[in-house]
Amino acid sequence: MDQASSLRKMVNKSAARIKKENPARRQTSGRPPRVISVTSGKGGVGKTNIVGNLAMALTRLGHRVLVMDADLGLANIDIIFGVHPTHNIGHVINGEKSLSEIIMEGPQGIRIIPAGSGFVNLTRLSEGQKLSLLSEFEALDDVLDFLLIDTSAGISENVLYFNLAADDCIIIATSEPTSITDAYAMMKVMALEYGMKHFKLLVNMVADEREAKSVYMNLSQASDRFLNGVVIEYVGYIPSDEYVKKAVRKRKPVLELYPSTAASKHITKLAKSMLEWSRRTDTDGNLKFFLKRYIEYRAVG
Ligand SMILES: Nc1ncnc2c1ncn2[C@@H]1O[C@H](COP(=O)(O)OP(=O)(O)OP(=O)(O)O)[C@@H](O)[C@H]1O
Ligand SMILES: [Mg+2]
Repeated sequence: MDQASSLRKMVNKSAARIKKENPARRQTSGRPPRVISVTSGKGGVGKTNIVGNLAMALTRLGHRVLVMDADLGLANIDIIFGVHPTHNIGHVINGEKSLSEIIMEGPQGIRIIPAGSGFVNLTRLSEGQKLSLLSEFEALDDVLDFLLIDTSAGISENVLYFNLAADDCIIIATSEPTSITDAYAMMKVMALEYGMKHFKLLVNMVADEREAKSVYMNLSQASDRFLNGVVIEYVGYIPSDEYVKKAVRKRKPVLELYPSTAASKHITKLAKSMLEWSRRTDTDGNLKFFLKRYIEYRAVG
């Protein structure tokens, strides 16, 4: 049996397994999952916390969520879910594991894909391997409503490609001046070099809405002046909340430990509003096309 057909066989087996474990119970509209990247210019602004808690809020609202830990260096998602991945996408690419075998289960059935450094090898796949991986991703369409991507901070190529390939890109900024200038620098590169025109802004660790809106005004005024045609959509804020830190120390989402604290309420509000976000095209959210876009961006990068 050649490598491509043995891979295909493996894919079919794991697709069947995923489907069996997750009987089709599409709670949303029957559409493919929505792919949302969460990113930032500066590190440490709360991406991992926001992804983990959003995953939990969406799960509690009855949606099926997969979190992709796309930081290729340091694993992040164990910070919030207390899971310790032993395998990552690199093992899928090597043919050692199927995609479904590396997907871990976090609290309340949230699924987690540890990306690891293997992602950078995607462009080196043979056609057969690429097709296999694409169909493994395609199999997930039926069992997910959201794919949330926790990127690393900064303007690395990898982060850019994830942001470009996703349906929505949420930029996290705080009111710290360096976080604002780094968020702007990131949008500038994505807009001017890659033609990305639409960003969602979520402001974290602020005292109130007024402070959050001033971060938004700062960024949108700069973008109106210097980034032609770019639209920054303010999608809300998460207050600075000591209970977030307490939850992090226990390696659990704040929403699980302290559901009535301010940060948890804001996360739930954001999750509810995400259900209303409009889709751009019919193929939005289709995981095969998401991965294809990512691979293509990498290849031409
Ligand atoms: N709303 C908040 N209130 C208080 N503390 C917060 C809040 N959000 C995040 N933090 C704290 O900020 C720190 C950094 O958060 P987190 O690890 O989620 O950031 P990150 O952007 O993922 O960082 P990195 O760029 O290193 O991946 C954590 O210790 C967390 O407790
Ligand atoms: Mg992080």
